[in-house]
Amino acid sequence: MKKILALLLMLAMLVCCFASCGSDADDTKKLTMATNAAFPPYEFYEGDKIVGIDAEIAEAIAKKLGMELEIIDTEFGSIIGGVQSGKYDIGVAGMTVTEERKESVNFSDSYANGIQSVIVAENSEYTSFEDFYTGFDADGNPEGVKEGVKIGVQQDTTGHIYSADEPGNWGFGEANVISYKTGADAVQALVSGKVTAVIIDNEPAKSFVAANTGLKILEGEYTNEDYAICIAKENTELLEKINTALAELKADGTIDKIIAKYIPTK
Ligand code: ARG
Repeated sequence: MKKILALLLMLAMLVCCFASCGSDADDTKKLTMATNAAFPPYEFYEGDKIVGIDAEIAEAIAKKLGMELEIIDTEFGSIIGGVQSGKYDIGVAGMTVTEERKESVNFSDSYANGIQSVIVAENSEYTSFEDFYTGFDADGNPEGVKEGVKIGVQQDTTGHIYSADEPGNWGFGEANVISYKTGADAVQALVSGKVTAVIIDNEPAKSFVAANTGLKILEGEYTNEDYAICIAKENTELLEKINTALAELKADGTIDKIIAKYIPTK
């Protein structure tokens, strides 16, 4: 009798185990998001948690899709490759939509705008963006970069791509650009006087200036950009689902609410 009871118990346990394993695999589909979490207010650490506009928007999308969001912090330059190869489902990183990137991945509808800003030391001798150049040609384009100008950027970002272009295209030439793993590292290089200026997206620029003493943002916009979520080319089903979710979250005010939480308008 005891034996039978024990057997029954074991059977019951086995059934339970299988049932729970099964439901785990089906119900909690993961949505893996790659980002580079040194980019406040879009993504940054609060303790050991990644928070910010992108984290919350992705969380809201995952909820709509009935999926569980997992955020992975990686180098900005490896996000697109990782999404392409299927290592991550989506890249959400204040990522600017560019024609070149569109050759590798698909982008969702845009959820925010960015502007490239120039941060300098408060006591910098450079008072405007034009000030970095030696002079201008008849068309108004820069002829050369002043001696000693070193521009810090986050590697593989649009700030990096534009800055490394020729002075004639309003870049600074590769030799005058120093790239860092994160925007925060580039800003630290500016604080310690290793670079003359940092070119980075405007909202992170504001956060970094607020978090460090002795920095300011030069007036003027370097470029205007759209941020969107990147998804593998072949994953059109997910692209559609995300665009639908984004449209709903825009319509019901969720996106505005998330942005306003991190970028309070005075
Ligand atoms: N908007 C810029 C770009 O797409 C910079 C983005 C950097 N993002 C980040 N999470 N570090 O190139």
